[in-house]
Amino acid sequence: MMTTQPLRTLPAPYPEYARLRRDRPVFHDAEAGVWIVSRFEDVRTVLRDHRHFSSCVLGQDNFEIRAPEDGAVLPNEETLLASDPPRHDALRMHVGRLFAPERLVACEAAACRELDRVVVKLVQDSRFEIVQDVCKPVVAAVMASVFGLDARWSACVAQWLQVSGQCNARSRPASLKASFDAMLDEIWHAAAHCPDAGLGMFMAACRRGEVDARHVLDLTVTLLKGGADTTTYLVGNVLALLAEQPCLASDIRRDPTLIPALVEASLRRDSPVQLTVRVTTADVELAGHRIPANSRVMLLLGSANRDEAVFGSEDDIHLDRRAKSHLAFGAGPHRCPGVALARMQGRVIVHALMTRLPAFRLVPEHAREVELWALRGFDHLEAEFLASSR
Ligand code: HEM
Repeated sequence: MMTTQPLRTLPAPYPEYARLRRDRPVFHDAEAGVWIVSRFEDVRTVLRDHRHFSSCVLGQDNFEIRAPEDGAVLPNEETLLASDPPRHDALRMHVGRLFAPERLVACEAAACRELDRVVVKLVQDSRFEIVQDVCKPVVAAVMASVFGLDARWSACVAQWLQVSGQCNARSRPASLKASFDAMLDEIWHAAAHCPDAGLGMFMAACRRGEVDARHVLDLTVTLLKGGADTTTYLVGNVLALLAEQPCLASDIRRDPTLIPALVEASLRRDSPVQLTVRVTTADVELAGHRIPANSRVMLLLGSANRDEAVFGSEDDIHLDRRAKSHLAFGAGPHRCPGVALARMQGRVIVHALMTRLPAFRLVPEHAREVELWALRGFDHLEAEFLASSR
């Protein structure tokens, strides 16, 4: 896992985060028209207080979701991401059903089956690429399992994940809207043919009149967008951490039961989702600052998770199985429903890479970080097997 030059070439946001936490923890950036919150306690307070801090600003630049029958548009405040409780609770309940413990067992089995296939392929060459060759196929297999879709849908789900990932990106290809609409048609078709699990559960709720067709599509698309690249970023960040700290890599090879703690340490130190946004519903006080109604508030999750007041110094990493909880998955009503799935995927992928492959090194010249400061991870990360290990 050693590398001679740094894998990360973009400037890390952490020194600036530390300055904000120290000097201006709740800060009005007048030029950007946003309040920036950087300390752990304040970020968590806002995430939990949906009455004063609404999610209605999320997803405003998303493509519209239209009903398959009459093309009626789903208003943004009716989407999972942008709704507030109690409306949000009702939508969220349907998502929760897809992540019942027995479903997670099926998802882990799907991940492991795909990894068996991936590992056999990887060792046939001297190099491999973490994102395309490892993470994407595993995530696609897992998402198909979440949706209750069988192998016939694998290629389709992989394509949906690609379209969803592009929707999250800064520059969207001109053809993306057409691909997005085609994806909605396919999702509707798949849901209609899905038995009782996954999308079939959304359809059953639709037949009971608890949600309409547009909600079925929105819930599915939000899951795809949430799960498309985040796990891949997590895996890249874990590997980058191991490359930076070779003694950690040795610890892991000696004792792979430390992998869940390693995944957790990486989630906190290099949170794949670095920030989120809320808007105030009334004048509100936060850490002694009065924030007027209708203000945008940016919550720096990546900074909160490095708050020395909660987590101490950054220099040493202790793989502590009882680590303090962090905010990488958010908090409050919108806390990520994919937490267990993300942790499981991170764990099984890192485990396969570290225990089932010959020793490898990451190749800095072929590592590319995501260029969005809301996200942290790699969208390309090549590795080569060490000659001595083959
Ligand atoms: C390492 C991986 C992941 C990270 C770091 C992550 C992070 C987050 C965060 C921070 C939020 C809350 C955003 C907010 O409050 O504004 C969130 C929400 C969400 N995530 Fe994840 N996520 C991950 C994986 C996943 C996966 C695998 C899925 C689905 C399969 C998923 C689906 C969602 C959905 C649907 C929401 C919206 C929930 C709601 O609005 O109620 N995420 N995620």
